[in-house]
Amino acid sequence: MRDVMAPESGRWRRFVQVFAETVEAAGYQQIIPPLLEDIGVFTRVGEATDVVSKEMYDFVDKGDRHVALRPEQTASVCRAFVQHRPTLPWKTWYTGPNFRYEKPQRGRFRQFDQVGIEVLGVTDPDLDVEVIALGWNFFAALGLRRVELKINSLGEPSDRLRYTEALARHFDRHRSELSEDAQTTLTRNPLRVLDSKRVEDGPIIAAAPRIDDFYSDEAATHFRRVCDGLDDLGIPYIRDERLVRGLDYYRFTTFEYAGGTLDSAQNALGGGGRYDGLVEELGGPPTAGIGFALGLDRTLIACDDEAVFPTLDSVLDVFVVDTTGGREALLLTDEIRRAGLTADRAFDGRSMKSQMKAADRSGARVALIVGSDELATGMVVIRDLRHGAEQMVVPRSDLEVRLRQQLSSPSTKDQS
Ligand code: HAM
Repeated sequence: MRDVMAPESGRWRRFVQVFAETVEAAGYQQIIPPLLEDIGVFTRVGEATDVVSKEMYDFVDKGDRHVALRPEQTASVCRAFVQHRPTLPWKTWYTGPNFRYEKPQRGRFRQFDQVGIEVLGVTDPDLDVEVIALGWNFFAALGLRRVELKINSLGEPSDRLRYTEALARHFDRHRSELSEDAQTTLTRNPLRVLDSKRVEDGPIIAAAPRIDDFYSDEAATHFRRVCDGLDDLGIPYIRDERLVRGLDYYRFTTFEYAGGTLDSAQNALGGGGRYDGLVEELGGPPTAGIGFALGLDRTLIACDDEAVFPTLDSVLDVFVVDTTGGREALLLTDEIRRAGLTADRAFDGRSMKSQMKAADRSGARVALIVGSDELATGMVVIRDLRHGAEQMVVPRSDLEVRLRQQLSSPSTKDQS
């Protein structure tokens, strides 16, 4: 778990802002679910997965309830739907931290943030295309170029079941050739063996039955329409028939956005799919669902690697330097902030030199200086901190106008 400090924290906020703008422009509204849920919300949706069986932060609270810090938010959104029954179709987006007891490494943390969307109540494959396209467009809005979209379909639940059984038979025949990890996975969830990155499992996975041979007509048609829709929008994708995803609730379409710069075990910048049975499992009526979540921490690493979506410099307009004791700084920062500009100041009656150092460090565009002469004559000095030592003395009554003029004139630094 990490501390996110400035200026990185500002970049996180901007990331969420760009995401909110992208999805709100498509009719999604925000939900803020709690960090903590009854453990049943998660166990009912993925007992066979590592996320639920091995990685949950769960405990018994003071009221003897078995609760868990959420490992993801799709299950919470479905629980909220069952509880509040918003009108369908329900299009919602979220952001916030999730918790998984994983082995921390570059791009993998025990507390990590996601942004995501979910839509309940629509079976139309055009919605799959809309959802996938929104994620794609968001990565483009960040400036990322090396993102690959992988898509697959797991078919209907009965297709998935027949496929899983066929896989189990195949892998069982080759059990002794599989890695120890894959053998353990096989016992719990044969589908997940397809995810193994171990060399020794490669040939056995390559010879495994293919999902395409197990689709019902409906599943095949749905998947074809999703692919056609992506073609219509000119969104390039890779069909990855091994894409099974790490959570159990998927059926029909699944997809992942892979970054081009991270290690393959951590290169999924985001992923999602359909989960048409999940609301029912949580006690609601049969309701279609689809969505995705994008990893914020990981996507920002990808942005660093591609040198896009940079951290921004300070946004401070003014730093007030008051050598008359501090009262003028109190009044001036208040006046400037009320006028809608940003301002900071020094405290503790420090020397002129020390305050000017603080002004430089703050990244402010101009320093506003009040000494005893200025105080006596009702003037202030505006010094452009990014423009050499250029400065002017202006009457306090003209301060706002003159400040705005100075702030809107391009500095030498901006011009270069
Ligand atoms: P997920 O694939 O488990 O799906 O997580 C989505 C994304 O969250 C990953 O692609 C990755 O970027 C990020 N992520 C996951 N675990 C970690 C970690 N330990 N450290 C850093 N980043 C991580 C879900 O969570 C589903 N709820 C997605 C979804 C929404 N499906 C349907 N709707």
